[in-house]
Amino acid sequence: DGLELDARIRRAKAALGKRAVILGHHYQREEVYRHADFHGDSLQLSRAAAEQEAEFIVFCGVHFMAEVADILSRPEQASILPDLNAGCAMADMADMPQVQRAWEELATVIDVEREVTPVTYVNSSAALKAFCGVHGGTVCTSSNARKVLDWSFQQRPKALFFPDQHLGRWTGHQLGIPLRDMPVWDPSQPLGGLTPEEIRRAKILLWKGHCAVHQMFQPAHIERWRHEHPQGQVIAHPEASFEVCQRSDAVGSTDFILRTVKASPPGSEWLVGTEINLVTRLAEEVRAEGKTVEFMSPMVCMCSTMFRIDPEQLARSLESLLAGQVVNRIQVDPETAAQARLALKRMLAVS
Ligand code: 13P
Ligand code: SF4
Repeated sequence: DGLELDARIRRAKAALGKRAVILGHHYQREEVYRHADFHGDSLQLSRAAAEQEAEFIVFCGVHFMAEVADILSRPEQASILPDLNAGCAMADMADMPQVQRAWEELATVIDVEREVTPVTYVNSSAALKAFCGVHGGTVCTSSNARKVLDWSFQQRPKALFFPDQHLGRWTGHQLGIPLRDMPVWDPSQPLGGLTPEEIRRAKILLWKGHCAVHQMFQPAHIERWRHEHPQGQVIAHPEASFEVCQRSDAVGSTDFILRTVKASPPGSEWLVGTEINLVTRLAEEVRAEGKTVEFMSPMVCMCSTMFRIDPEQLARSLESLLAGQVVNRIQVDPETAAQARLALKRMLAVS
């Protein structure tokens, strides 16, 4: 049962000591989250992974995060994902052949190597980060997207932003780019479904990708809630739609959301548009200060792949490490890793 699993995790962790470090994303369920040595948003966890000395980095998050940990750590360190099926559906919405084809098609209209910086959201495969590394591009997370796009426009006048159109659109909007200059590139259409003229005038080409979890939040949810809570404040993750971000009082990464709500005065009321495990935990943490935190959607939407990491698998991962078996190791091939590292280092330098 739960108590027994908790004890198994604690025991294995204590026996491993400094040999293993557990990183936990803010979307992890509480029974896993509580065992992490470091919590954070994607950027903080990337930095934490790069700084670890431990032999094993056990990543309670999703596949691309464990890949980043492998890329940024030393070759003799092993990055472990307790469930290999913990992927990110949005990360899978852009793959290498599609991006390569987009690049080639763009080259038929503009001088792509001089005019376009490829920028990938960290929610993407190592191969796409490598593509960005090779083509003078970079990576961003939800907490540094603005700084990264600013940097990208200092390099070249246009950006190809993948896979999340919503983060790209919201960030472009913050930089003052009109919506009409951020057309959506649909990889299933020739030339992304755009005309050469639309491509020439574009500032940001937004990939047609999205996070289904964050599309559950609707402007109507905000309007209804504001009517009932005239003093309340709304905060959302930038993976939510443009209309939701526009109607929110604040928009930012998972860590930004936690910090902002925790720093608000007692009695504050919040409506939060991000994954349910984070929102439920936050609501409990601030309840004692008289703050209320509500989930934005009337439907329970959670990230089912983040949820795949359960206490049973965490216990098993740690116990197998103790027994000398490195299972569920995420290893990026050295050439891809070197190119992806280039893109990630550019990101870390500007954020
Ligand atoms: P953060 O970088 O804000 O933690 O977001 C990661 C993510 O996958 C959000 O869906
Ligand atoms: Fe991917 Fe969405 Fe889950 Fe984040 S919440 S890991 S973007 S599927």
